[in-house]
Amino acid sequence: MSETTMSGDDLAALEAETAAALAAAADLRAWDAVRVGTLGKSGRLTALLKGLGAVPAEQRKERGGALNRLKGALEGRIEARRAELEAAALEARLSAERMDVTLPPRPFPPAGADQGGIHPISRTMEELVALFGAQGFSVAEGPDIESDWHNFGALNIPEHHPARQDHDTFYLPAIDGRRPVLRTHTSPVQIRTMVAQEPPIRVIVPGRTWRADHDATHSPMFHQVEGLVIDRGITLGHLKGCLIDFLRAFFGISDLPVRFRASYFPFTEPSMEVDIGWNRRTGELGKGGDWLEILGSGMVHPRVLANCGIDPREWQGFAFGMGIERITMLKHGMPDLRPFYESDVRWLRHWAADPLSPPSLAEGV
Ligand code: PHE
Repeated sequence: MSETTMSGDDLAALEAETAAALAAAADLRAWDAVRVGTLGKSGRLTALLKGLGAVPAEQRKERGGALNRLKGALEGRIEARRAELEAAALEARLSAERMDVTLPPRPFPPAGADQGGIHPISRTMEELVALFGAQGFSVAEGPDIESDWHNFGALNIPEHHPARQDHDTFYLPAIDGRRPVLRTHTSPVQIRTMVAQEPPIRVIVPGRTWRADHDATHSPMFHQVEGLVIDRGITLGHLKGCLIDFLRAFFGISDLPVRFRASYFPFTEPSMEVDIGWNRRTGELGKGGDWLEILGSGMVHPRVLANCGIDPREWQGFAFGMGIERITMLKHGMPDLRPFYESDVRWLRHWAADPLSPPSLAEGV
């Protein structure tokens, strides 16, 4: 018997075979082959419907009704299987394309993109503002051309003090017998802030500084950030906590070893150099057993407070200063300081930060 004249049993067989073929179809391509083979132009059901004309008139009505019921049933099964397979395909795609939200953001700028970026020095300054901002610091500023008094005298560095020799100062032509200087550090802004503002004081001072010095790790113009805290009952413990927290957050190493080493600055007493743990051979920070000096700090000298009209018996504080190029080079593993100022677009493109992703404490700076 040909398919055009199948009996009711054969219609049941077609339904069963189609159901089995649908169940065996593992993906939408296999499913589509079953659909075409059944309902398509030369599909098995289509052939039966086409053959209806050849069925004897007295059986045609019954046969037609049976074929239509079968057609409805097969369409229902085919549609149901499609929905199943699509849901499975979606499920597979969702789990294959799962996004790892802990991955670092896409590097910026994208290769070849002709887009601006944030210079690494500016980026570090933004990070300093974000990190110290979270510790309650605000930002103070002062001029690049400074008086001898602000840069040296008020900071307890008198005229013939040997500390002046360390600074390789750029002197400008004298005004009223006194030679202004290009500030050799950001510490004069300690003085300006304490003169202008009543304690309590909590400021950082990112800015340009100048010394007559030029090699792979020194530039005549460079940047520092100063920190100054003046309040009642401030101790060395506050200084240590503040700087340890900052250094660990800035370098992104939660157990970064930090060492405080007795030192000397005329404007702090006691004074401490701060070192972080690293590996001298590989340059890796955080482990390796070697120490790298990273900043100067200390308790603000009572004479400096008095120079600014602050009573040292009532107010105490700490100060610190560090080189921004230095911490930027260490953080990113940059070997040479000179390219910071050479405006080489390839270098800038490599190191630029995404202007649309400013530092945020939530992501870690
Ligand atoms: N001004 C010092 C320097 O340039 C750093 C410093 C700042 C040290 C504040 C102690 C306190 O080397």
